[in-house]
Amino acid sequence: MNGIGNMAWLGAATLFILSLRGLSHPASARRGNLYGVLGMGLAVLATLLVTAGAGLQIALIAAVAGGGIGATLAKRVEMTQMPQLVAVLHSFVGLAATLISIANYMSGTVAANPVEQAIHDTEIYVGAFIGTVTFSGSIVAFLKLQGTLSGKPLVLPARHLLNAVVLAACIALGYRFVSSPAAGDGLYALLVMCVLAAALGVHLVMAIGGADMPVVVSMLNSYSGWAAAATGFMLDNDLLVTTGALVGSSGAILSYIMCRAMNRSFVSVILGGFGTVAATSGAAPEGEVVATTVDEVGALLRDASEVVIVPGYGMAVAQAQGTISEITRRLRSLGIRVRFGIHPVAGRLPGHMNVLLAEAKVPYDIVLEMDEINEDFTNTDVVLVIGANDIVNPGAQEDASSPIAGMPVLEVWKARTVVVSKRSMATGYAGVDNPLFYKDNTRMLFGDAKGSVDALLRHIEAA
Ligand code: TAP
Repeated sequence: MNGIGNMAWLGAATLFILSLRGLSHPASARRGNLYGVLGMGLAVLATLLVTAGAGLQIALIAAVAGGGIGATLAKRVEMTQMPQLVAVLHSFVGLAATLISIANYMSGTVAANPVEQAIHDTEIYVGAFIGTVTFSGSIVAFLKLQGTLSGKPLVLPARHLLNAVVLAACIALGYRFVSSPAAGDGLYALLVMCVLAAALGVHLVMAIGGADMPVVVSMLNSYSGWAAAATGFMLDNDLLVTTGALVGSSGAILSYIMCRAMNRSFVSVILGGFGTVAATSGAAPEGEVVATTVDEVGALLRDASEVVIVPGYGMAVAQAQGTISEITRRLRSLGIRVRFGIHPVAGRLPGHMNVLLAEAKVPYDIVLEMDEINEDFTNTDVVLVIGANDIVNPGAQEDASSPIAGMPVLEVWKARTVVVSKRSMATGYAGVDNPLFYKDNTRMLFGDAKGSVDALLRHIEAA
């Protein structure tokens, strides 16, 4: 690697760090994305420039074909299918790490001394191991998210023991691989380990229920980063090490944040057997459901001085964010204070609601996190819940038998009036009844969220 190449890689690594920083806030997310694109462009360009001879042609063809397929897929995919796409992309990273590791071993690189050789072989082995677990785990995650495989966890008897035995076998094969004098012996151990690691990846993700799948995708994201970092060590490529470590650690932090927001233990999600969709547990709610009308809600909003809007998955499905943005604008022009309360796992992706509201041009400064708004509900006149369910379920605090007991929620029921826009009394993602719908101060606005808020906007405009 020459000086210019090194400089380019340093620049790319810096751009990746700036990208992560930008992505930490909606206001700077677009810029963050741009930094990421520039960083990756620079990295690819530098790699192509240092690739000499016939390899360059192959690399160019691969980059153009891969880039074309990636751009087409990303353009076509619906926002709600994003987790599947991400899972597939992780599987590619895993597969790449495994194939590069095997190819590197087969190329027979010889280090200067036995210690360096052992370190190099360990890097190959670790890269192939993490890469294969990531690859097979991501494929299963994709199939589960797509609905091709059932979301139910596969709970085999003594599954933890089974995982431990497979892991022990991989470690034993690793010892054989690193200490084998003949290249053929090593290859055998490497390939057998890959088969075992693939089975381990399948089993680990099969044991995780549909409800925890997004956390799993984020963990696989983290694994793919570590696989890339291991490959970077193996290839002596500093950019790959840096990028892999950034992806690995940010994925791990995201997984931890998601686990906390869903009240799941990080370790239990990794080990599996959790996240079963429990449709029946939890006490049946008491009270009466009171339906309301657009006219009533319109009047409530016009009489209010403090309004909080809580969007959920249903807003994304109905694509109601544009109209909600317009309603917000109208209400604010009437002197009503309107803010948004965002739960960390509202919708189906981290930041799902923030992206939709940003697209609909809702000002960032009125979009607040759960912790920032929860104390204000007691002083709120009207809360408008748009297609949200689990994230506003008081059962999480009040009912210890609820499957979502302990999950932090938006305490909307503390407001004077809560209006819930959804189509029916159906449960949300966690499959549990919601006592909020039966509270005295709750009014249900039944119907598709888009239809309801369109009618509400017309009502406000006409008033
Ligand atoms: P949910 O609890 O899934 O509730 C969404 C509600 O939207 C449903 O009860 C549904 O009721 C309603 N809905 C669906 N389509 C609608 C439409 N066209 N118009 C109006 N309403 C509609 O969503 P939430 O409150 O956003 O909570 C998110 C859940 O997903 C949590 O359990 C969370 O743990 C889980 N989860 C989140 C993530 C991330 S990272 N965000 C990832 C995976 C899982 P109707 O059928 O009656 O209309």
